[in-house]
Amino acid sequence: MSAGATGDTLCFFVNGKKVTEKHVDPETTLLSFLREKLRLTGTKYGCGGGGCGACTVMVSRYRPANKSICHYSVNACLLPLCQLHGAAITTVEGIGSTKTRIHPVQERIAKAHGSQCGFCTPGMVMSMYTLLRNNPQPSLEDITQALTGNLCRCTGYRPIIDGCRTFCQEANCCQLNGGTNSGSKEENPEETPLLFDKSQFLPIDHTQELIFPPELILMAETSSPQTLTFRGERVTCVSPVLLEELVQLKTSNPEAPLIMGNTKLGPDFKFKGVVHPLIISPIRVLELFEVTETTHGVWVGTGFPLSEIWAILKKLCRQFPEEKTELFRALIQQLRNVGSQQICNVATLGGHIMSANPNSDLNPILAAGNCSVSTISSGGWREVPLNQEFFLSFGKTVLRPEEIVVSVLIPFSRKGELVRAFRQAPRKECAFATITTGMRVLFSEGFRVVEDVSIYFGGVGPKTAKAVQTCATIVARPWNAETLSQAYEVLVKEFDFPPSIPGGKAEFRRSLTLSFLFKFNLEVLQSLRKMNVIENIVVENMEPLPGEIQLSQQHFQHVSKGQSDQDPVGRAIIHSSAISQATGEAIYCDDLPKTDGELFLSLVTSSRAHAKIINVDVSDALLLPGVVDVITAKDIPGKKTRMFSGYDEEMLAQTQVSCIGQIVCAVLADTRAHARRAASAVNISYEDLSEPIFTIEDAIKRSSYFEPRRKLERGNVEEAFKSVDLVHEGAIRIGGQEHFYMETQSILVLPVREQAEFKIYASSQSPTSVQIAVSETLAIPANRVSCHVKRLGGAFGGKFVKTVILACITSVAAWKTNCAVRCVLERGEDMLITGGRHPVLGKYKVGFQKDGRILAADIQIWTNAGNAVDVSIFVAEKILLHLDNAYNIPNLRGRAAACRTNLPSNTSFRGFGVPQVACVIENLISDVGLTLQRPVDQVREINMYKGPSLTHYKVEFSPENLLRCWDECKAKSDFCSRRIAVDTFNEQNRWKKRGLSIIPIKYGIAFSEGVMNQSAALVNIYQDGSVLVTHGGTEMGQGVHTKMQQVVSRELHIPMSKVYIGETSTNAVPNTFISAASFGTDANGMAVKNACQTLYQRLEPVRQKNPKGTWESWVSAAVMEKISLSATGFSRGPDSYIDWDKMEGQPFPYFTYGVCCSEVELDCLTGDYRTMRTNIVADVGQSLNPSVDIGQIEGAFMQGLGLFTMEELKFSPCGLLYTRGPSQYKIPAVCDLPLSFNIHLLSDSNNPHAIYSSKGIGEPTLFLGSSVFFAIKDAVAAARKEVGLSGPFSLDSPATAERICLACASPFAQNQEKEMG
Ligand SMILES: Cc1cc2nc3c(=O)[nH]c(=O)nc-3n(C[C@H](O)[C@H](O)[C@H](O)COP(=O)(O)OP(=O)(O)OC[C@H]3O[C@@H](n4cnc5c(N)ncnc54)[C@H](O)[C@@H]3O)c2cc1C
Ligand code: FES
Ligand code: FES
Repeated sequence: MSAGATGDTLCFFVNGKKVTEKHVDPETTLLSFLREKLRLTGTKYGCGGGGCGACTVMVSRYRPANKSICHYSVNACLLPLCQLHGAAITTVEGIGSTKTRIHPVQERIAKAHGSQCGFCTPGMVMSMYTLLRNNPQPSLEDITQALTGNLCRCTGYRPIIDGCRTFCQEANCCQLNGGTNSGSKEENPEETPLLFDKSQFLPIDHTQELIFPPELILMAETSSPQTLTFRGERVTCVSPVLLEELVQLKTSNPEAPLIMGNTKLGPDFKFKGVVHPLIISPIRVLELFEVTETTHGVWVGTGFPLSEIWAILKKLCRQFPEEKTELFRALIQQLRNVGSQQICNVATLGGHIMSANPNSDLNPILAAGNCSVSTISSGGWREVPLNQEFFLSFGKTVLRPEEIVVSVLIPFSRKGELVRAFRQAPRKECAFATITTGMRVLFSEGFRVVEDVSIYFGGVGPKTAKAVQTCATIVARPWNAETLSQAYEVLVKEFDFPPSIPGGKAEFRRSLTLSFLFKFNLEVLQSLRKMNVIENIVVENMEPLPGEIQLSQQHFQHVSKGQSDQDPVGRAIIHSSAISQATGEAIYCDDLPKTDGELFLSLVTSSRAHAKIINVDVSDALLLPGVVDVITAKDIPGKKTRMFSGYDEEMLAQTQVSCIGQIVCAVLADTRAHARRAASAVNISYEDLSEPIFTIEDAIKRSSYFEPRRKLERGNVEEAFKSVDLVHEGAIRIGGQEHFYMETQSILVLPVREQAEFKIYASSQSPTSVQIAVSETLAIPANRVSCHVKRLGGAFGGKFVKTVILACITSVAAWKTNCAVRCVLERGEDMLITGGRHPVLGKYKVGFQKDGRILAADIQIWTNAGNAVDVSIFVAEKILLHLDNAYNIPNLRGRAAACRTNLPSNTSFRGFGVPQVACVIENLISDVGLTLQRPVDQVREINMYKGPSLTHYKVEFSPENLLRCWDECKAKSDFCSRRIAVDTFNEQNRWKKRGLSIIPIKYGIAFSEGVMNQSAALVNIYQDGSVLVTHGGTEMGQGVHTKMQQVVSRELHIPMSKVYIGETSTNAVPNTFISAASFGTDANGMAVKNACQTLYQRLEPVRQKNPKGTWESWVSAAVMEKISLSATGFSRGPDSYIDWDKMEGQPFPYFTYGVCCSEVELDCLTGDYRTMRTNIVADVGQSLNPSVDIGQIEGAFMQGLGLFTMEELKFSPCGLLYTRGPSQYKIPAVCDLPLSFNIHLLSDSNNPHAIYSSKGIGEPTLFLGSSVFFAIKDAVAAARKEVGLSGPFSLDSPATAERICLACASPFAQNQEKEMG
């Protein structure tokens, strides 16, 4: 092949079909090619940076050298198309479909209820599929490893793992619930209904898989590879075959990067806007893929991806004696933690070393292990040691730009040599380390003296760095307490950790360096003991935290014996579109095909937190290729603002901006890439206004609030304080949370070009809000605007207010250009612009008796609302309404204020303030327990509502089910015996502690504004007997459509298969309200039921005429008799209200209750922890669908676990959100799943206030994730006891490793302790 003016032709296969591309732009990724060119939209875009796994596909390549085919999973979003010559790609569409046959992986994930919103599902399927192609009988560990890089925001992972583990052959996997309902010993398995029946699953049949295309084998075997050149709009890529040619190319273009895995370069191109006119792809240069053994060690080619390096090292470990493989084993351990499977399958050793990332996990251990690299350039070969001189700064090494690293020498270890690696990261897996280290010690003969020692750290500054002075302190001395104690003293001063260190956490970083040296010491001592070099020293064995996933239990009640088999209500029915989600056929907004002339809209946002806009210069942007127009506020024909709680919010800022990320204008272009490039070319000049406010504290100081501030009070708080035994004051901060729905905000507006009619497809939880807002913005009647929502890839409250604004802006663009316009936010934009959960500062004063009774509490809650009011007033109100959580505090006062700051405005988020306020209350209770030195669960029990009760807003209720949940949870979790076991463990372990907690929730369901509780539905019966249902709820993974099908099936006495729920549309069902407040099923279920009952009654005459007839016969007869078979249904819903002046009302028709017990094990040296076991007992009334409800409980719990223990938003000092993607913002992944995760639905619970006696469950159990927070707190308290600290202490949420480690107050973290006190 020779390069023409437009470059060479690329040849590869997708799902068995040959693709030949003549014009390949090196900037095109496989993902955009699949989605936009081939219209294979099953592969999803979630982040674009390799961090979420939604885009996972399988790549297969033929290796002529050993005539084998290798399969590996990759992130299509990072894979340049031009790297794919000769490869075969398999996407989710290629392995199965509902039209042909579904693949067992698709079936099992779907039927095990592992797909809720489904946006992550194709990626999960492809990761698992690839694993099975390589390993048909994987272990559970293989499965969790394969899914490391696949995020799911809905399910909590347990059902995905359970579906996948049905492929395992392990003993424990065959008792699975299906299922995992192994049941506890005392229970009879026959009594226990299962979530799924694995005996029905299709067997895996590898003969059915797509074969590797013989044409590609032939091509690889016969044609001699030639240099390929691909030319794009801005970038050319040359892919040589011979090393000499590579050297020549690099010599003439020293600045051209070598593109290997593209996991460093790709994110730079995409997120930093880096452009290299020439890139060189050496992936076909064979010298980079050689392994050569020598007497010193093994030379490994730098072209190998990290997963292959791992396999090579594993093999070498089997081949050589242990003594020689110390370094190999330490490397294997670190490699296990680098990125995800998909990343390790492409990221190369050469790319890793040359990226010179200061947080690299491999460079410290390679350097400590005395590795060196062999390089080539036009000057010839040379060997360069990988030592402290090698790494200069981020991205810079001592190598000259034209040098190519060909291989790395990994030496054998010598007798008397010990090598270890440690790391601590914000998440156990797929997260860059905060501190990472490689340590090596070589003892002289007899282990008496340290002959050599080498300690390198990552995360201590701008480069991988050696602890030179510390090493000097240790060398030539015996390895004993005195040497080590001096080493700590030197190490604590050796690195400078200024507060401005990138990534922050200065004190934590310092303490980690010490902790790791201490851990190394323990390991060395263990080894010396094993070798009988030392005796009489007891060394604590710091085993890694437990990680083996256990069997989980999901218990729910059978339907009553009398219920007809046809009636699906109360049964574990799979999500109605789970299968099509697993096959990639399910359509999300951005999967809709591009229409003729369609334009893409990209937003331009403010880069100042508080400033006057002086000028918006769009001239450069307009000159760029493909750009059509720029939309500003002046283009809006109708209302330019949206009003919330009496405050106007501009959709496009005109004169002033009040946060970084506020939308100023938007660029329209022919493609996404063009629109995005042009958006960054818009120049806005500003004049800064008064100092911005970012924190709650600053807002309080400057009295910056959105009014009204609310207050709720019962009893006489002041008087009560006078009479109590003890008074304590405390505070807790709870950080915000990003929704991180897997599908980012997406909108497509189609002008119908007649009478100003617009069709809007939006990822919106509230289609009516979109419709009304767009009509007002365009100044047209609402009857010209229809909003359609098929499904959302998760929402969690985040696709309401912000989506409305985005839809309005996109509609203005469509209105102005008369073209279809699409706007899909990048993950980073979405996180920057759309806000999240309100951060909270809670301060409290509590008065209590020595016996634990709390008699008075005065609580003040401030939320950080951001720059616009959004729903912040309602959040503050809901906070106050849940001030009591589960406790009867006779004198209780709460005040809540929404602080107005210069951060992007926060919005609704699952739980709507309740998780935050409940956490404040539980912290207050915890403080009481710690003050009295009494078990906190006892303080909870003493103060819990009992008997007929009155809330603090004067509503009567019975807490009976709350108490039942509490008792059952205690019993199911073996709370009392585990308390003893935990205490015993803590006595026996100094550096590891366990903690246990049990936490209740009482959650008010529905909107406290009665008007929002109404709902409507339309049910049409067609002549063939099929039924189409449209209702006001949107399907976002919560299973509302499935539940509605169940309702219709019961009401019309027909199988669910006859019922189809199309899209949610304002055309079919008008004037609906947002799907939120855990009220979707209650509201829409009643409306659907109402419509069905109308229809069923209308059919009564024909049924009477033909009682033995079939459904179809009655429907035909009805048509003949001119009976209308279309009916609307309506439900007023509860008339909830709250009178804030009188401080009373009836805000909620009922409560959902839950109790959760969690146990954690903590590594006090690093702050790392693992949730060992979680037991939840939830009162969902009579569950309408236990699998959906359990899915909601688990998913919400995991989201709560993220909120309270790991998800941390970070802002720059000038108010810019730093955490704008999965690499900076960590949501729970598979590795965070409690090892044993058990859900129990309270039996025999009834609820007269909702459909079929069920209860809303979407939000309540999110707060139960805090049981992990409080279990951590319990463990930290045990750690503090070791250093003589007792009583209440401060631990803010999220309890990150940093906070935990510092709160443990180990000798290594003492500096910080002083500050905390
Ligand atoms: C989502 C994600 C998670 C990650 N997690 C971790 C983690 O937990 N720990 C960790 O340590 N790292 C992590 N990484 C970083 C990852 O290990 C590196 O990005 C990767 O190893 C770089 O290799 P590459 O082949 O993709 O390099 P590329 O991006 O292809 O190239 C990177 C640089 O190396 C140069 N280069 C490549 N090969 C050579 C060569 N042979 N000679 C000279 N120069 C060369 C290129 O010119 C380029 O400048 C993560 C990355 C991502 C995207
Ligand atoms: S979209 Fe590729 S990993 Fe997120
Ligand atoms: S089902 Fe996994 S993200 Fe929604």
